[in-house]
Amino acid sequence: MNLTKEEEKMLNGEEGYAVRKSMEILVALGDIYGAEQLIKVGSVQVAGVSYHNLGDAGLEFLNELAKDGRVKVLTTLNPAGMDLENWRQLGISEDFAMKQNLVIDAFRRMGIIASCTCTPYLIGNLPRYGEHVAWSESSAVTFANSVIGAKTNREGGPSALAAAFVGKTPNYGLHLDENRIPDVHVQVAATLTKISDWGALGYCIGKKAENKIPYITGIREGELDELKSFCASVVTYGSKPLFYMQGVTPGAKMHRPPREKITIEDADLKEAYEKINDEATDIDLVCVGCPHCSIKEIAEIARLVEGKKVAANTEFWVATSRTAKQLADQRGYTLIIEKAGGKFACDTCMAVAPLKGRFKAVATTSAKGCYYSRQNNMMTRMGSVEQCIEAAVTGKWS
Ligand code: F3S
Repeated sequence: MNLTKEEEKMLNGEEGYAVRKSMEILVALGDIYGAEQLIKVGSVQVAGVSYHNLGDAGLEFLNELAKDGRVKVLTTLNPAGMDLENWRQLGISEDFAMKQNLVIDAFRRMGIIASCTCTPYLIGNLPRYGEHVAWSESSAVTFANSVIGAKTNREGGPSALAAAFVGKTPNYGLHLDENRIPDVHVQVAATLTKISDWGALGYCIGKKAENKIPYITGIREGELDELKSFCASVVTYGSKPLFYMQGVTPGAKMHRPPREKITIEDADLKEAYEKINDEATDIDLVCVGCPHCSIKEIAEIARLVEGKKVAANTEFWVATSRTAKQLADQRGYTLIIEKAGGKFACDTCMAVAPLKGRFKAVATTSAKGCYYSRQNNMMTRMGSVEQCIEAAVTGKWS
């Protein structure tokens, strides 16, 4: 890779340990993927925040970097393993909380905003069209590429951190226009009514597109919450973290629908629900907010749950960013949801919190949430917000 004089100096350690380590990571990546140079990034989103996934080795790595590493661009964090304030209420152990707080402290010392959300674009980390960024979390990466029209690869935690310390990333993959050309035309002939239908659609396209870039037609323009759900699902179940959707993706008109064509019909959606859902009837966890709930979604939950009571043996979690929760506090939504027995799970989510062994069956609106819940040995039920709240109140899936 061609490095500038300034980059050579960073590689030689003139800006300290963290920058040198970061340059080593970026140069190695660039060499592997044939990048010719580093390019500036406007922002970074770092995944790999949960102590559950990092362990002591990861914490040690972060503490080393935090000694002299300071980020050069706006950098935000993906969800952590717990609500940083109300972790006790969510059943997190003292030991885990202590370690998770050490992880967050290390990130803070680096100058990173401890926002802990997979929807950075809702809390102020919003790239512009065409801007290069280095983001990690798959749904956020897909949203950045496909809804905003920014350009990012799906970074791992270390490569995102490295980009933050250097302010640059290697110019390969989805940073290059030639790698952003759609290769499969997806004609949607299915009806989408509830939010979980967008997750089911993502499942169908992800499975059928098989690591290709879909060009999607025949679909009504999705609302923000529907699109973030779709982004989470389509990349979890198979396609690249970039799609073109007519009426949504900026620049979609610059491309023609590719020759290879697949069609998604109502029967495909029905089959997706069958594959994503288990036969669970008793529900002990209901979690809405994968990706993290917007304030609009929280308002809807408050409206639906007002005056109801969550069943004794069921927990009802609303996963969201702390910023959205603060807005919910101001509007009185928090009070309504908590009065009904719901709990806010800020800064964290059902995939990265240590939930294994705690719950038997989860109900959620999210196809991605179901995928990760199965990895936590839970049975799954996916449906509308109304169905999820019904499950929270009755403890049953009907
Ligand atoms: Fe976000 Fe966690 Fe879902 S990171 S997309 S809430 S699995």
